[in-house]
Amino acid sequence: MAEDVKAALFKAYGSKGAIVVQDIASPVPKEDEILIKVKATTVTAVDAIFRSGKDFFPRLATGIFKPKIKTLGTELSGVVERVGDNVTRFDVGDEVIADSGTNYGAHAEYVVVSEKDPIVHKPNHLSFKEAAAISYGSLTALSFLRDHGKIKQGNQVMIIGASGSVGTYAVQLAKYYGAEVTGVCSSKNIALVKSLGADHIIDYRKTSLKDLQAQFDIIFDTVGKYSFGKTKHLLKPKGIYLTTILSLRSVFDMLRTGQGKQKSILAFTGLRKNKEKTDDLGFITGLFNNHSLSAVIDKEYSLDTISDAFDYVAQGHKTGNVVITM
Ligand SMILES: NC(=O)c1ccc[n+]([C@@H]2O[C@H](COP(=O)([O-])OP(=O)(O)OC[C@H]3O[C@@H](n4cnc5c(N)ncnc54)[C@H](OP(=O)(O)O)[C@@H]3O)[C@@H](O)[C@H]2O)c1
Repeated sequence: MAEDVKAALFKAYGSKGAIVVQDIASPVPKEDEILIKVKATTVTAVDAIFRSGKDFFPRLATGIFKPKIKTLGTELSGVVERVGDNVTRFDVGDEVIADSGTNYGAHAEYVVVSEKDPIVHKPNHLSFKEAAAISYGSLTALSFLRDHGKIKQGNQVMIIGASGSVGTYAVQLAKYYGAEVTGVCSSKNIALVKSLGADHIIDYRKTSLKDLQAQFDIIFDTVGKYSFGKTKHLLKPKGIYLTTILSLRSVFDMLRTGQGKQKSILAFTGLRKNKEKTDDLGFITGLFNNHSLSAVIDKEYSLDTISDAFDYVAQGHKTGNVVITM
């Protein structure tokens, strides 16, 4: 293995010059760690928000004055290059899907993860590209719908942002759980969202949610473009509005709603215990194996052009996932 490896270093907040690809010393796994040769990773909406440094709340995680995270990126697929002495579940040469979570570092040729991090064997029929675009969107969608939405067969479920990374998985998972699904997207993504299983589509550029009459058990606002207040007329009497976005309003709504009535829920699914995320990643790869789920890939970039990938993702209009192949 090379002494020096390439990594996308997070040097500053902003856009130009924020992410710089450089050679660094190859990481060395400790006793319970696994060194993975990354084959593919993604640039997510969260990576783009982190790079921008525009909002206060994300800076609490990434550094108030300057980035404290060396390399961004959480989801990846690759091949195990070395294992620490205490690693039991993985061997050199295994093809894996991993989520480095709050350790980040996936935007690099090599990454070290703990055996306790969410890491599973890659299903053989999946390409590394598809496998990299699984953990962030599907683990978020699964936890929101199953754990917080308590989704049930026959539920009426609206997915706002149905064409995004979280949304494309949310549509498929809601169908898997037997819900009747309404996807909210723009006209360019209608065919895609229908192909993922949505029963009904609302083109958000043509129809205002305030003019709708339908009633939902769950409204999952994957992109946080609305709020409990703007959608509660669409919720059944005990309906649940789920949002991924931390704001003063989403916190306030969560505190003031509920108690047997309509409820607004904000959650941070990435902060769940590693054991739960690993079990869920196993469940998700099972759904890929029986073709209940598929990964939607929009564009592909090389590590050298990762800044362009960030610029594209930051526009907020990607379809599914943006992949970096090594
Ligand atoms: N709380 C948590 O645990 C958690 C976990 C993961 C992510 N997140 C957050 O979740 C958010 C969504 O993540 P993501 O990765 O799914 O985003 P994404 O992939 O970047 O979403 C982009 C998609 O959203 C669509 N969109 C934009 N405005 C819309 C609107 N008003 N109505 C319907 N669709 C709209 C876009 O379609 P058009 O091109 O048609 O506009 C595009 O396809 C991010 O802000 C992220 O920070 C939170």
